[in-house]
Amino acid sequence: MLRHAVKQAALMVPSVRRLFEQRDAARSELADLKDKVEAWRVALRPTLNADDMMPDWFLPPGPYLAGAPQRYTDNYDTYIARGGVMRPAEDVVGFVRRSPKYGYDRARFYFLCLVIDFISVSKLTGDMAELGVDKANSASVLARAAKRLDKQIYLFDTFEGFSEQDLVGDEVKHRGGYADTSFDQAKENVPGDHAHFIRGYFPETAAQVPDDTQFCLVHLDCDLYKPFCAALEFFWPRLVPGGFLIMHDYTSLYWEGVEKAVDEFFANKDELVIPIPDMSGTVVVRKMK
Ligand SMILES: C[S@@+](CC[C@H](N)C(=O)[O-])C[C@H]1O[C@@H](n2cnc3c(N)ncnc32)[C@H](O)[C@@H]1O
Repeated sequence: MLRHAVKQAALMVPSVRRLFEQRDAARSELADLKDKVEAWRVALRPTLNADDMMPDWFLPPGPYLAGAPQRYTDNYDTYIARGGVMRPAEDVVGFVRRSPKYGYDRARFYFLCLVIDFISVSKLTGDMAELGVDKANSASVLARAAKRLDKQIYLFDTFEGFSEQDLVGDEVKHRGGYADTSFDQAKENVPGDHAHFIRGYFPETAAQVPDDTQFCLVHLDCDLYKPFCAALEFFWPRLVPGGFLIMHDYTSLYWEGVEKAVDEFFANKDELVIPIPDMSGTVVVRKMK
């Protein structure tokens, strides 16, 4: 009590108040620096022990991390001078933190970064969405970018793993998939009130998106045929011209339902799917009009 009163009195003296302000500014700078150091520490960690962490996954020997696009390395100063919005060394932290295994897929990470760059430069309107969030590895990258571009992001997941009603045909072998998903961990990985977590079974939850919402980027990563089909039906008409539809797991040969859903949906459209050489087989489509 007395200490508080003394401090309040001292703060009335301008020179003392300035000192306190300088101290607070220094503390905040120190906190920022600590964040950056942590970012680098986490970002570099996967180079050390990948084989220990993923003994059952095929990782070619040697420098198996994807080389970074040169705009984020050699030419980073030029990138920043031209208004580049990504900060890969910091943005990768959320991508590797909650599910380090998937964090090894740097080609996927850099692809998302480059898509954001396109959206930023071409000033695409519309918000972002992801179906299939799990612990928010990919969502963390998208959400950080959405904040910088002043966009909302809608994040759909049961947060209870696959739903029994989605397991059709062979997909029953995936029963129990992602049961360890965590709403709390996802939220922690994606701060900000521009991020709207839509918890529950998709497509039932789609009604929670405001009617007039349009998207510049939609990321589908829900693995199974039924929700994938429903998502294509829901998001495609809401994608702006030039918007990016990113579909995970198409070429991996693990998720036949995804391949089928995408092939069926685009069979009668002018747009073509383009493969991305990331680990889990992403394909992308840009909507023409
Ligand atoms: C592969 S994980 C998502 C991975 C995440 N994008 C990442 O980067 O780590 C697939 C997620 O889709 C969710 N999911 C599958 N079917 C769903 C449905 N019908 N409605 C909502 N979420 C669903 C699961 O709960 C699971 O968390």
